[in-house]
Amino acid sequence: MTRISTAQLDEMKATGEKIVSLTAYDASFAIVLDEAGVEVILVGDSLGMVLHGEDSTLNVTMEDMIYHTRQVVKGSKRAMVIGDMPHKSYLNPEQALTNARRLIEEAGADVIKLERGDSSICEMIRHIVSHDIPVCAHLGLTPQSIEELGGYKVQGRDPATAKKIKQDALAVQEAGATILVLECVPSALAADITAELRIPVIGIGAGADCDGQVLVIYDLLGISRKSPHMAKNFLAENGNIRDAIAAYIEAVKFSSFPDAEHSFK
Ligand code: KIV
Repeated sequence: MTRISTAQLDEMKATGEKIVSLTAYDASFAIVLDEAGVEVILVGDSLGMVLHGEDSTLNVTMEDMIYHTRQVVKGSKRAMVIGDMPHKSYLNPEQALTNARRLIEEAGADVIKLERGDSSICEMIRHIVSHDIPVCAHLGLTPQSIEELGGYKVQGRDPATAKKIKQDALAVQEAGATILVLECVPSALAADITAELRIPVIGIGAGADCDGQVLVIYDLLGISRKSPHMAKNFLAENGNIRDAIAAYIEAVKFSSFPDAEHSFK
């Protein structure tokens, strides 16, 4: 079976079919998500918090990401697998390329993800993409910059920051990113960016108008230590894990999730 391609995600954006994504960090969850029809499995560096019990993602290593991405690749057949580049693994273009290659070649990821949208990140994106590795960018609340951002806060509420996020979104697209994750931004800003970009935008706490949605699987199951405002516990209403995931998929496909309660103004 061939995996979902970036061209298929582009097609979904074009036709308006919502893209469903969830995180997974091991083969068992990857099997369940893949069989349920999740299109994109993100092996996020959120594993530092939900698996390792840390307060941030800052201590996650390349070895951690390779180890968990490999398990997810083994467990899935159809979903696109995105592997996250951890903090300090892309400090310059050569290091970024070496580590992106490791996620693709050693772990089997289809796409790699890196955070932020400044000019140095665009340089990394250009370099990685020029070696035929697809890149997913990540803007808005970027947890690897938590110290600079001063906490897990909604980004883009004031006009200057909103303008910067939109400029960064256009810049990462121009640099060659093929997907954008937009985290914790007001719904209206996310809708504007989604309409402006030709690449698919996958939101988390970014309102229902993005091209798709992603959640941390443990938030969806209500078993994270701190469940963020934008996450919904689908297990509470559905009784078992497979039904909870099916309900999330249906809610994303029919744009009933995220609702106002799980979005930001
Ligand atoms: O690390 C992660 O799981 C992520 C998602 C929250 C988007 O980056």
